[in-house]
Amino acid sequence: MSRRRKLRESAPVEVALTGMAHRGPAVGRIDGQVVFAFYGIPGEQVRVQLERRRRKFLQAHVVEVLEPSPDRIAPACPYYGVCGGCQWQHLGYAAQVRLKRQIVEEQFARIGKQSVTVDQVHTPSSPWAYRYGCEIALSRAAGFRQRGSRRVVEVEQCAISHPLISKLLTTLNTMIQDGRIPDLWGMNWVETRVIPQGESVKLALVLEGVRNVDLVAQPELRAVLAALSTIPEAISVSYRTPSGAVEPFAGPALVDVEILGKQIRFPPGAFFQANVEMLPTAIARMRDLAAVQADETVLDLYCGVGIFGLFMAEDAGRVIGIEVDAQAIDAARQTAAQWGLQNTEFWDLSAEKVTEDLPQFDVAIVDPPRTGLDPRVLRAVAGSTPSRVVYLSCEPSTLARDAALLKEEGYRVERLELFDFFPQTYHVESLALFRRC
Ligand SMILES: C[S@@+](CC[C@H](N)C(=O)[O-])C[C@H]1O[C@@H](n2cnc3c(N)ncnc32)[C@H](O)[C@@H]1O
Repeated sequence: MSRRRKLRESAPVEVALTGMAHRGPAVGRIDGQVVFAFYGIPGEQVRVQLERRRRKFLQAHVVEVLEPSPDRIAPACPYYGVCGGCQWQHLGYAAQVRLKRQIVEEQFARIGKQSVTVDQVHTPSSPWAYRYGCEIALSRAAGFRQRGSRRVVEVEQCAISHPLISKLLTTLNTMIQDGRIPDLWGMNWVETRVIPQGESVKLALVLEGVRNVDLVAQPELRAVLAALSTIPEAISVSYRTPSGAVEPFAGPALVDVEILGKQIRFPPGAFFQANVEMLPTAIARMRDLAAVQADETVLDLYCGVGIFGLFMAEDAGRVIGIEVDAQAIDAARQTAAQWGLQNTEFWDLSAEKVTEDLPQFDVAIVDPPRTGLDPRVLRAVAGSTPSRVVYLSCEPSTLARDAALLKEEGYRVERLELFDFFPQTYHVESLALFRRC
């Protein structure tokens, strides 16, 4: 029997949970060793099943709650605990928000080596049905991945996703049962976006794969694309080719997403914020914090389809957006032209590449992936001495790490706000205003 299996079949162990860790589990100690216990809550006495033994910690999940926290509630979703999408449905919503604030502040103290207080937490109108984007894995059924595994859990309804995504899950499962979509062993998935257009909502679907989608080598995927194209709400069906580019199969290569009454050109497969309802608040807060003047230049680094820079162009003298995804940059240019903007430029370059030759700018907006800023990029941005750096982050640990580096470069956190873009999960979006001292 493997060591892991032996651990999984060992007798549950009692533990007192004392804190909440950054990526969702509660924390306790067993014989002095740290244990990360999924589905636990600080203050609880629980029994856990060990799952993994690492050099510095144990990983486990709660199997019995002996003394529950007052924050514990019954999860609303029948897939909770099996599906890996949510980690915090067992926590009341007020507690989720409190813990996210606490975790971000702890990350700043521990990794960022500075004391920073969260000034404000923005929450959505409902902590349910908020997700406009997700990846639906295709296997013997359609659904989401199990926690810590590639295995696919069949899901018919997703409580945190837009109702159109739940409808799509049901449709895909029917198509698999009917044989219109074969068992793809979880090697392929449908990158799904709900596209708000005025009063109506549509779907943009991109078929993706572990080795992308090669229609010559895998002719069966043509039938999957054809099946997706029959879904009435799908206005665009495309696939990611082995080169990484997204090719349309049915419908247009770009669709329009309506935000704040304006149309944003979006190439399916590019990045788009998943909580569309909270996006206007994030744009408004970013504009407020940046307080860009009419004679100032804004650098929008990691700009995606240019959403922040495009709205900021109403305040600024000049906006330069930089993004590695050429299709997103092409879309940003098209949006700027449709809006009649004369003061924007969008460059399809990697941030690392552009640091060799950064233009002059007064304000930087940075919205990097989870990995945060490459140290070379950070030093190049700081070396251009903008008076403000507005940093939107989906990963508190890398934000805190970069805050420490920005501090060395003379930048202090002036304001920190959180956006709860992802209720029922540990994920949190942070918006930090750094000012040059
Ligand atoms: C968190 S998203 C933000 C996008 C945009 N600000 C928005 O909110 O829609 C990060 C973006 O960085 C881009 N990206 C990733 N690595 C990059 C790099 N090395 N250089 C430039 N852009 C990069 C991704 O393609 C993605 O669009």
